[in-house]
Amino acid sequence: MTASLYKHKILILDFGSQYTQLIARRIREAQVYCEIHPYNLGLEKIKKFSPKGIVLSGGPLSVYDTNAPMPEEGVLDLGIPLLGICYGMQVLTHALGGVVARSVDREYGHAVITILDDTDLFHGLGQKGGEVVWMSHGDRIEKIPPGFTVLAQSKNSPIAAMADRSRKFYGVQFHPEVAHTPQGSKILSNFLFEICGCEPSWTMASFVRRTIKSLREQIGEERVICGISGGVDSSVTAVLLHKAVGRQLSCIFVDNGLLRRGETQEVMELFGKRYGMDLHLVDASEHFLKHLKGVTDPEQKRKIIGREFIRVFENKAKELGEVAYLAQGTLYPDVIESVSFKGPSATIKSHHNVGGLPSVMKLKLVEPLRELFKDEVRQVGTELGLPRELVMRQPFPGPGLAVRILGEITPERLEILRAADVIVLDEIRGAGLYEKVWQAFAVLLPIKTVGVMGDERTYENVIAVRIVDSLDAMTADWTRVPYEVLARISNRIINSVKGVNRVVYDISSKPPSTIEWE
Ligand code: XMP
Repeated sequence: MTASLYKHKILILDFGSQYTQLIARRIREAQVYCEIHPYNLGLEKIKKFSPKGIVLSGGPLSVYDTNAPMPEEGVLDLGIPLLGICYGMQVLTHALGGVVARSVDREYGHAVITILDDTDLFHGLGQKGGEVVWMSHGDRIEKIPPGFTVLAQSKNSPIAAMADRSRKFYGVQFHPEVAHTPQGSKILSNFLFEICGCEPSWTMASFVRRTIKSLREQIGEERVICGISGGVDSSVTAVLLHKAVGRQLSCIFVDNGLLRRGETQEVMELFGKRYGMDLHLVDASEHFLKHLKGVTDPEQKRKIIGREFIRVFENKAKELGEVAYLAQGTLYPDVIESVSFKGPSATIKSHHNVGGLPSVMKLKLVEPLRELFKDEVRQVGTELGLPRELVMRQPFPGPGLAVRILGEITPERLEILRAADVIVLDEIRGAGLYEKVWQAFAVLLPIKTVGVMGDERTYENVIAVRIVDSLDAMTADWTRVPYEVLARISNRIINSVKGVNRVVYDISSKPPSTIEWE
């Protein structure tokens, strides 16, 4: 835990709900620092973290299941305010002498609650006709524990919320963290500010200030290297470190020949010239293309690119002399996934760009974004003065255009894809959609089709256009782009990209498809 820098903190104990990360997002939006930890976090660790309040998340199980997760003994005796959400409320009830009724049916979806007491948790709520909330639970509370009162009820849940004010214990049967509970943020804010007495101090400006200070202390006089990819995470990591330790930081940018048009120049211009970083470009395009020659299998491509990236990066790093630290843009969701409820095995990422680097290079890691969610990283980028195009940049896969060229990767095919990609992005920007969609890109297919241009028959390549909406890339849906925009993309590609005579639009969602084609 690195949170000692923040005075007012909330601890979220994760009982396995799909919404746990959302609880953290909402709390951070209210400018209060919080961390997610497994439900069974030890008492000593909790005391050391010293939270102003604890949230018990929801979870998929019933308190009556054999392996029902329960918090460590003593958590309820710490004298710290508690909010139990859904399963968390059932945990409170079960542990404090109330009765949880087992249920075979789930209540799932919108419900309307009537607020009986708007003193604290529901302060400012309680409009006539009730409040809309999102329910997703099996079991429900049959009898509240001694000392509690009922704060709200719904048709299906006579005890939709409860409190023991003397101990500052609260429970809600519904999910205040999801967007389907319109007043959910207000309810959570009431818990944070009125009940726990937090002050809103988690801002990106304070994050930047404190992080730069602690990076200086951590790194001292040592040297750091950082790989820059042109993406948001590595850019923000590099700029933070540059602000902290200046020329003790050396950045390496590997041009693997699989980047989009103009990307290398943009990175060199911004970080080398404008920020004046010690930035080393390794032009390894030929090296990568040589190793990819004749390779068509997607997994094979990824493996080769990952392996060669490490090799090239390591060689360059050696040239730079004695270095103690490797900086990485690891984000909070990766950290939670490896420590949280499900345990490390459930969530190993198959595609982490520089996943192999730390172990190979035997360097100490510095990960200044470990506490941040993606949108917080973007805010930090803005705070640091990075250009908006970079801060709002869509994700781009580590293996680059290699996984968007189906079949063999050749310089000619790369050029075709680059030209088409520029057009897709240009039209999406022109239509004001760039920041609305998750990703928009072109894919070069390994087939040719017949066409006619002028009086001549052509036999040329097909470009597929992929544009998707998503919140976290775990699921995605194809974007309903206006036909006129698709028409312009298609016309421009066919008219100006030599070697293409057909454009198709990908209308598959994830799952069962994936976002990238390989
Ligand atoms: P899929 O294709 O699995 O992609 O639906 C989900 C998201 O991850 C990105 N992606 C990658 N990112 N290295 C990365 O850094 C990779 O190897 C990689 N493969 C896919 C993809 O662009 C999408 O946003």
